[in-house]
Amino acid sequence: MTILERVGLARRLDGAPRYDWDELVQEDRVHRLIYTDPAIFAAEMTHVFGGTWVYLAHESEIPAENDFITRRLGLRPLIVLRDQNGRIRALYNRCTHRGTTLCRWDKGNAKSFQCPYHGWNFLNTGKLRGVPWPDGYACDFKDPKYNIAQVPRVESYRGFIFGTLNLDAPPLPHWLGPITRPIDQWLDRNPGGKVVVCEANRLKFKGNWKLAYDNSGDGYHVVYSHRSLLETENRLAEDGNKGMAYYRSSPDAAPMYVQYMGNGHHFKDKRPNLNQRPGGLWAIESPHPGMEHCEAEFRRRYGARADELLDLAGSEPVNINVFPNLSLLGNHIQVFEPVSVEETNAIWYGTRIVDETGGLGDATDEINALRMRTQEGFPNFGEVDDVANFEQIQRGLQCLEDEWVYMHRGLGIPGRAHTHDDGTIRAPATDEVFMREYIKEWKRLMQTRPNLAIQREP
Ligand code: FES
Ligand SMILES: [Fe+2]
Repeated sequence: MTILERVGLARRLDGAPRYDWDELVQEDRVHRLIYTDPAIFAAEMTHVFGGTWVYLAHESEIPAENDFITRRLGLRPLIVLRDQNGRIRALYNRCTHRGTTLCRWDKGNAKSFQCPYHGWNFLNTGKLRGVPWPDGYACDFKDPKYNIAQVPRVESYRGFIFGTLNLDAPPLPHWLGPITRPIDQWLDRNPGGKVVVCEANRLKFKGNWKLAYDNSGDGYHVVYSHRSLLETENRLAEDGNKGMAYYRSSPDAAPMYVQYMGNGHHFKDKRPNLNQRPGGLWAIESPHPGMEHCEAEFRRRYGARADELLDLAGSEPVNINVFPNLSLLGNHIQVFEPVSVEETNAIWYGTRIVDETGGLGDATDEINALRMRTQEGFPNFGEVDDVANFEQIQRGLQCLEDEWVYMHRGLGIPGRAHTHDDGTIRAPATDEVFMREYIKEWKRLMQTRPNLAIQREP
């Protein structure tokens, strides 16, 4: 029996028994409460950000032994690190003495962490190393209960580090399932099948975190919400086919599609809209200040190879969404961090390529310089439209008596969506099938009591 069960708090914090989830999440609509109720948010921190695999960090952010970066698992502050033996761990950023956060830095390199409050010192394996003036204690500090708590299951998929507290969660590769296909393709288009994570555009909005996930594969809003971006992208273009122009007239007739990939994950593939040739991706890249000059110089220097190399700077037209908090969008890694029921951080990490075999010669830095410019576009000129929508939805949902949010686009139209043998469901680009399916996974998690545990070094 846990301490929460002994004091009678387990059922309250668990959240599940108090709600009829089948009423709140229906086939075609969801109740406003799932975005506005603090008790549901509290339960999500256990059932979702605890009960399933959650993206924590990228291995390239902690490349060397003793590198660390501070992150969160739901609301739990974490130190994600590579310990002195090279093992990746996710320590709770919480001193075992009186509970303060142990590390106040965003990132760094440290073999040990000294608590700023009373100076307890911990190795980066989580083990307590020593306390000031130990003769004032009668206890045995060798007891593992004084070692830092850590996430018991931390695994990587091709550089993406995930963690879960749920001992019953399926192995990471099973849980990712078919979404690994687009992730592999997203990586494999880069030299060595790798990217390195750079600094981030950090946005926050006053809205529930699921509003961002609802939107992550939404092809229905693009021409309305992002009209100014579409116009900017094409203002100087002769053919009017830059950026997301493929959404313009009838997006459902375009070759792009949205695909539900199981376990809450989904994929918007806009690559079929492109001319499949070297330079086909760069050809739709929208204007960025100074780009023409860089491109001309690049073409002069690299001649016949320029198109293929410029594609490495172009923004990959995919949205790969890994439930609950990771999106690969263009060349970005986007992470959603819930802050409260009505506050979320939306962080856009840029990525650059690395050339470990030297096959790119001296083009790598130039490609990365251009790639950085292309990555400035959407977070600054597109995401702002999206977060404005999220904040206005959160406002609209304060109309207590108007209870339902509809996500039934495509539902009930024979032949519109196709279920494949692997269980994935493919539909036209503006379909809301991915929302209906991921929210079923959310409901399943909210109805299931997860087997959460922490671990400490022995
Ligand atoms: S709270 Fe960390 S040493 Fe006291
Ligand atoms: Fe958008």
